[in-house]
Amino acid sequence: MPRHDQPAWRESMRVRFDFNNAMSAAVGAQGLDDREISRLDASIRQAHATLARRRRAGELEWMDLARATDVVREILDFVESIDGRFENFVVLGIGGSALGNTALSTALNAPYHNLLTLTQRGGKPRLFVHDNVDPDQFRGFLRVIDPEKTLFNVITKSGGTSETMAQYLIVRQLLIEQLGDRHREHIVATTDPKSGELRRIVDDEGYRSFPIPPGVGGRFSVLSTVGLLSAAATGIDIDALLAGARYADEICGEPDVWRNPAAMNATIHYLGYGAGRTLSVMMPYGQALKDVADWYCQLWAESLGKRVNLDGEVVYNGPTPIKALGVTDQHSQVQLYTEGRFDKIVNVIAVRDFRETVTIPAGFPPSAGVNFLGGHTLNELMSVEREGTIVALTEAGRPNVTFELPEVNPFTVGQLLVLLEMQTAYVGELFRINTYDQPGVEAGKIAAFALMGRRGYEARRDEIRRRRRTDPAYII
Ligand code: PA5
Repeated sequence: MPRHDQPAWRESMRVRFDFNNAMSAAVGAQGLDDREISRLDASIRQAHATLARRRRAGELEWMDLARATDVVREILDFVESIDGRFENFVVLGIGGSALGNTALSTALNAPYHNLLTLTQRGGKPRLFVHDNVDPDQFRGFLRVIDPEKTLFNVITKSGGTSETMAQYLIVRQLLIEQLGDRHREHIVATTDPKSGELRRIVDDEGYRSFPIPPGVGGRFSVLSTVGLLSAAATGIDIDALLAGARYADEICGEPDVWRNPAAMNATIHYLGYGAGRTLSVMMPYGQALKDVADWYCQLWAESLGKRVNLDGEVVYNGPTPIKALGVTDQHSQVQLYTEGRFDKIVNVIAVRDFRETVTIPAGFPPSAGVNFLGGHTLNELMSVEREGTIVALTEAGRPNVTFELPEVNPFTVGQLLVLLEMQTAYVGELFRINTYDQPGVEAGKIAAFALMGRRGYEARRDEIRRRRRTDPAYII
């Protein structure tokens, strides 16, 4: 039995959620008390029941991604079939079709994975995730990689996002120029199984492809083929990742808010939002989790920033996520968090055991201000710095919560991602908004189609041009 199926090991690897410092006993007026939380109990139970009902009805497919073991097998078979063939695995995607890939790689591949030799990487390819269309960066990238040794994974759920498809067209031309008929072997597509431009292209060109379940939106797709393919290709244990995700799902099966970490943090953020704490800072203490904060920002922002609620009333709902990194941002943003406006809830992610222990050597005995560090470890320093920030925030009356990972491994990261997804889903229910649409993002996509001259969007292009006024008086 793999260790991630053993109850004792799972328990030892459980991500713990500590919300002591969100309570008034710790932070005074900005905190919550038990009664406030319990008063929301009926709403949380209602949210829980709604999510469960919608899940049973097949409306929330993202919740069941971790159980799709056939997909895992298919991915692992593909990865085996390309074993040793490519030195570079390049993701072309954006938003939910890129952020999870980066988050998984930063968290679970070795630091500086791309700088290791092929042998040090266990024969696995380097990973590059291109989620921008900066011409200098993209051309510069294409100059440094060898197409012969590169596999491009084009990821787009809709199959027509301008940025991704533009990258794809550029890459395809390059591959045709350099590899001729073999160019198709260097492209693998991840897209909707039936609809969209990319699906049509896949069918015509005969590319290898992986389906994104139709009901799974971009920002909830990290545990689908979107995130799993690049993870498996670069050597991440996706079985353990999904086992962690299933464990978090079990934990979140608990309707009682006092026993369900995702529901509790949703409650803390929902009640906080009502009291003016509208900013949610995500601050991992660990470089490996830096890009989980980036992924969280999209999840939170795109899911919860909504103009109308489910009744069609204009609400301009908008808790704003902020990414920070411990300890780096202690010397940047933490000043604002401890002394600025009382509008934030800080989510710390702590790592109990790092993979490495790094001892600080003693040196310069006459310099007491330096010498005291000798004999300690960077691990201790990281931990006391985190404690220091938490103490400073708490003493300044700033609500903060901590997710503690026993260590950063596929099982704990899988848990963390699902806890944050579930938390977002609960808050969306409490706000009574549609967590899963993104009309604001779609509006930008349509404007790009119109301005780039896509057929069928002429009227929109004319409208945009008519409205665009640039008064030289306002340009200095
Ligand atoms: O979460 C979302 O739905 C978006 O951020 C999308 O992931 C993003 O716009 C990219 O869309 P697509 O995968 O269709 O190219």
